[in-house]
Amino acid sequence: MSTDEAGGAAMTGADVDYAQAQSDWAAAGLAPLWESAVSHKAESREAPLLAWRWRDVEPHVERAIRLVSPQNVERRVLLFADPALSSPGRAQTSRMLNAGLQVLLPGESARAHRHTIDAIRLVLQGSGAVTRVDGEDCKMEPGDLILTPGGAWHEHLHAGAQPIVWLDGLNGPMHRFLGTALFEAGPGPDFGAPQDVARIDAAFRPDHEGGRLFRYPYERLVAALDAAPLSPQGYARVRYVDPAGGANAIALMDLSAIRIPAGGATSPFRTNATTINVVLDGEGQTDCGARAFEWRKRDVFVTPANVDARHKAKAGGARIFQMSDREVYRRLGLLQEFCGDGNDMVRAPD
Ligand SMILES: [Fe+2]
Repeated sequence: MSTDEAGGAAMTGADVDYAQAQSDWAAAGLAPLWESAVSHKAESREAPLLAWRWRDVEPHVERAIRLVSPQNVERRVLLFADPALSSPGRAQTSRMLNAGLQVLLPGESARAHRHTIDAIRLVLQGSGAVTRVDGEDCKMEPGDLILTPGGAWHEHLHAGAQPIVWLDGLNGPMHRFLGTALFEAGPGPDFGAPQDVARIDAAFRPDHEGGRLFRYPYERLVAALDAAPLSPQGYARVRYVDPAGGANAIALMDLSAIRIPAGGATSPFRTNATTINVVLDGEGQTDCGARAFEWRKRDVFVTPANVDARHKAKAGGARIFQMSDREVYRRLGLLQEFCGDGNDMVRAPD
């Protein structure tokens, strides 16, 4: 490029050739790698911690109640959207996982369907609903975790007295990226009279049935968490597992909960997985990169990949539900986790 007398840029013959080549490459479905904004460059985006306070999102949920019904939308869900990953009609919470708030009013139901996407439900407020999973009724009480693994038929029915709100967690973005997201509307097969899943316990299950476990009651979680020993990193963790073999409750999702003792703080932790955190109880703060987020019960926050995160609990201690895509990285041999203090981070044991 040269400069003409008026100070503007004048096209040289080489510029014209290059511009023509760009146009012809594009028409041929080719792109010059040297013009790529991402190739051969360190990823510049340091993702920020994203957070949604319950008190801020609750009015938006109430608005959704007034405006739409599960009769005319498949599910009444407000997704948590990362603006850097979302576009109109394609909201996304993180690279591989989505989370949102679903609400049902007393007497409402959300029809049966199934999909290859795995989903979990964590009850945040209200009670008296059930999620029917492959013909088994799973009660939904505050803090309960209900699984609807990929391929399982599921519907939601609410016979309680107050609205019920739960967190939906799904690995939809991963399935869409892989081209494996299939959906099938109900009603699905006749499973007979709904069975009461209460007979299936996290430790004892009937031998003569498939006995898959779809419900993890909150009181069992609290008992397990309170009995779990503190790690050197300053917290106790329990994982939601399939009691039949100890594998992850959902194969490609990492579901766990941590307990931070009163006034305690965890060591800084960094991973290339992304974690969606839901405060089950207690108050505290998470320091993550440049941002500090003060949280309380029912708040949701996403600790991004490759940024040090540290959780601190106030005087009452805290319990936090965590859902992450860690298992996908682990299976691919790509997981990198570090814990420790500041510059002295060491690789975390697998
Ligand atoms: Fe679903």
